[in-house]
Amino acid sequence: MQMVAVYSIKGGVGKTASAVNLAARASLAGHRVLLWDLDPQAATTFYLRNKPRVRGGGVEKLVKGKAALNKAVRDTPLDNLDLLPASFESRELDQLLEGRKSSRLRKVLKPLFEDYDLVILDCPPSISTLSGQVFSSVDVLLVPVVPTTLSLRTLEQLQNHLDREDIATPVWPFFTLVDKRRKMHMQTIEDFRQQWPAQLSSIIPNASVVERMGVEQAPLSSFAPRSAAAHAYRELWEEIERRL
Ligand SMILES: Nc1ncnc2c1ncn2[C@@H]1O[C@H](COP(=O)(O)OP(=O)(O)OP(=O)(O)O)[C@@H](O)[C@H]1O
Ligand SMILES: [Mg+2]
Repeated sequence: MQMVAVYSIKGGVGKTASAVNLAARASLAGHRVLLWDLDPQAATTFYLRNKPRVRGGGVEKLVKGKAALNKAVRDTPLDNLDLLPASFESRELDQLLEGRKSSRLRKVLKPLFEDYDLVILDCPPSISTLSGQVFSSVDVLLVPVVPTTLSLRTLEQLQNHLDREDIATPVWPFFTLVDKRRKMHMQTIEDFRQQWPAQLSSIIPNASVVERMGVEQAPLSSFAPRSAAAHAYRELWEEIERRL
């Protein structure tokens, strides 16, 4: 089982849209995928038509390793894709993980290791105890970046933080919300290629069809499979799959 996180210090950069679309693509490619929603906003949970509720004992039992995981894990409308939902209570994760061994999140899923090929974490935008747990638990951090100065700055902050803490988890950035008509976006992407050799080269366009995921409550592959954004997420997934 491999574990990846869609993570950024910055909010609103497309983490959730990416987590859901990548999970859908991976499941369509035949992998058994578990998507874990760690964000109390529970947007991933909503996109996959589930209730914001952690069954089997809530997040506290989950962290303690005492949850009934078979009850906590829910079905989604997609074959091969299961969901570990978030609820508003997920805001307590930070506090509950305080003082725990750094890869507790990974340990929590141990009973499921045989059941899934891939676990994707959708993370809240913060740098905290929870994110520290994420960094130590996953095989790779997928970091959506909008081609703006501030977004690139938070990517550097992240890498500096990992270096300082001696965390060797690879960071694979990729661009989202890109407007190809904007010169500055394209110039930023071009400059970036030289600085971050580990970046993924697929580019997710800024496209209104992605916003429609909230109305459809489904990944792009389910309601707009021929759209440019769906195509971009497919390419991004294939690139990740080759590297994993
Ligand atoms: N490629 C895209 N094109 C257009 N809109 C997008 C795209 N990706 C995401 N959005 C929209 O931008 C908003 C933020 O996206 P999303 O929720 O995926 O970001 P996030 O990083 O998970 O945010 P948060 O930090 O709040 O968890 C949403 O309204 C979403 O529909
Ligand atoms: Mg989100």
